[in-house]
Amino acid sequence: MATRKRTEKAAESDRAVSQEVLDPTPMREEERFDRALRPASLAEYVGQSAHVENLKIFVEAARRRGEPLDHVLLCGPPGLGKTTLAHILAKEMGTQLHATSGPAIEHKGALAAIVTKLDGNDILFIDEIHRLSAVVEENLYPAMEDFQIDVVTGEGAYASSITLPLRPFTVVGATTRTGLLTSPLLSRFGHVIRLDFYSEEELAAIVRRSAALLHIPVDVEGAAAIAARARGTPRIANRLLRNVRDFAEVVGRGVVDAKIAESTCERLGIDALGLDAMDRRLLRTIIEVYDGGPVGVEALAASLAEPRDTIEDVYEPFLLQRGLLSRTNRGRVAQRRAYEHLGIAPPRRPPGNGEQGTLPI
Ligand SMILES: Nc1ncnc2c1ncn2[C@@H]1O[C@H](COP(=O)(O)OP(=O)(O)OP(=O)(O)O)[C@@H](O)[C@H]1O
Ligand SMILES: [Mg+2]
Repeated sequence: MATRKRTEKAAESDRAVSQEVLDPTPMREEERFDRALRPASLAEYVGQSAHVENLKIFVEAARRRGEPLDHVLLCGPPGLGKTTLAHILAKEMGTQLHATSGPAIEHKGALAAIVTKLDGNDILFIDEIHRLSAVVEENLYPAMEDFQIDVVTGEGAYASSITLPLRPFTVVGATTRTGLLTSPLLSRFGHVIRLDFYSEEELAAIVRRSAALLHIPVDVEGAAAIAARARGTPRIANRLLRNVRDFAEVVGRGVVDAKIAESTCERLGIDALGLDAMDRRLLRTIIEVYDGGPVGVEALAASLAEPRDTIEDVYEPFLLQRGLLSRTNRGRVAQRRAYEHLGIAPPRRPPGNGEQGTLPI
């Protein structure tokens, strides 16, 4: 037991360094940077071009009619720009954004207090919308659909319910877990937008834009090197940029170039694919402890001593997208690329077994 504890501790400090850098969820002091670097219009928003083009049309149409935008659900892993997009939609509509979150709306009275204060065409941004309580969610339906809400007045025997009309408004919901949304809630959104990981070109553009805003000298190769290691995520690209700047100023020549970007990432334990110690540990565990899988997420979470949610929200999406991992109905399976990346010889596939690229189950 003592040995296990020691091993866990060692493993923890091992991953602490790079995990902090590659964790796509914002760190406390980082929220200031997030705000400062947030693009303010759809024109400034880099990437997600199909969604952005559609949103331009929807905003323009709603503005011409003087109506609120249809309710929008933004889905995707942390740091891909959901909050940013919600703020942009309010700006483009010329209305106010009121921000709250699923867990913050504790009871239906709190919901009523929020929605009755909204002005016409305002945006109510509900972050982590999958965490609304069932009662609040049920009360949100008529507010979204018919712009009205039931409010209880009086107490005990004198309690009665009245229906209050609301000014038309737009709910912009954000979630990292679309699968956790109930279908009645999902069906009330006119636009469901699934944000994708960003390409290296898009991330390089984001790095160059952020560098200009923060007055950081960066060359083209430096921006590209950061982009390649940013896990497809703007928040991570911006964080790496700030880390690399520190190294450039202290041990480099002050300019963020490819050499300093690569050596900084190396020091932080981030490899050429942008994987950190935890990503590699996850893949290695599947390969070495579970023979490449399939392994259920619960068993994996227990082996890694990480919450299941963190594995599903933070680590897996990128590994799946990069083809290092696959999900089957029997669990997670390490892909051939994962073996190659970690320098482990892949098992030989029996003839005729499995789909393309999937190792034997
Ligand atoms: N398309 C983009 N173009 C430029 N910068 C972006 C873009 N998307 C996100 N960013 C940058 O990444 C940061 C993180 O984005 P944001 O806070 O909107 O992510 P999020 O999806 O809301 O994350 P979370 O799920 O953790 O709330 C922003 O501050 C912004 O600087
Ligand atoms: Mg957010």
